[in-house]
Amino acid sequence: MIHLDKFIRDIPNFPKEGIRFKDITPLLKDPRAVKEALTQLLELLGNHTIDKVVGIESRGFFFGMLIAQELGAGFVPMRKPGKLPYTTFSEKYELEYGFDALEIHEDAIANGERVLLHDDVLATGGTAKVACNLIEKLGGEIVQCNFLMELSFLNGIEKLQGYEVKSVLKY
Ligand code: PRP
Ligand code: MG
Repeated sequence: MIHLDKFIRDIPNFPKEGIRFKDITPLLKDPRAVKEALTQLLELLGNHTIDKVVGIESRGFFFGMLIAQELGAGFVPMRKPGKLPYTTFSEKYELEYGFDALEIHEDAIANGERVLLHDDVLATGGTAKVACNLIEKLGGEIVQCNFLMELSFLNGIEKLQGYEVKSVLKY
């Protein structure tokens, strides 16, 4: 039995004083842990059918792509500003530590497609909420938002009311 929480390393005061950063690199470098995390993420999804998996740059890319391959779904990168080459939709958001924006290609999701949103961490929920807004702007139907971990004390889930939200690990 692999306990995934053993592969998440706490880094105090990163990237700023007072933030306890959850470092997933110990998990990523262990193929058995990656396999277990992928299995558990797929279990969260259950029997839902999915057309597109949207992964949020950058840490949402690692498992987002793996999930998409397992599901036989397409993968869509939701990226930080100025990284996507084609016409994009964009929206700003507030982070746990700063401001940023996310972008998606205008043709990444077709109207009515069933979408799984994936990211590594749900913290304040600002990132995931903006991602949901962009997916819906393109006409995507958000079937589930899933995360490797949820920092429950930051209440990100409140920003995602109305969506199915699941996480492998909760802190
Ligand atoms: C982190 C994390 C989530 C987001 C969660 O990403 O990977 O994407 O913050 O925060 P929130 O719920 O408070 O919005 P970050 O923007 O640090 O970038 P990275 O994934 O490129 O490391
Ligand atoms: Mg991120």
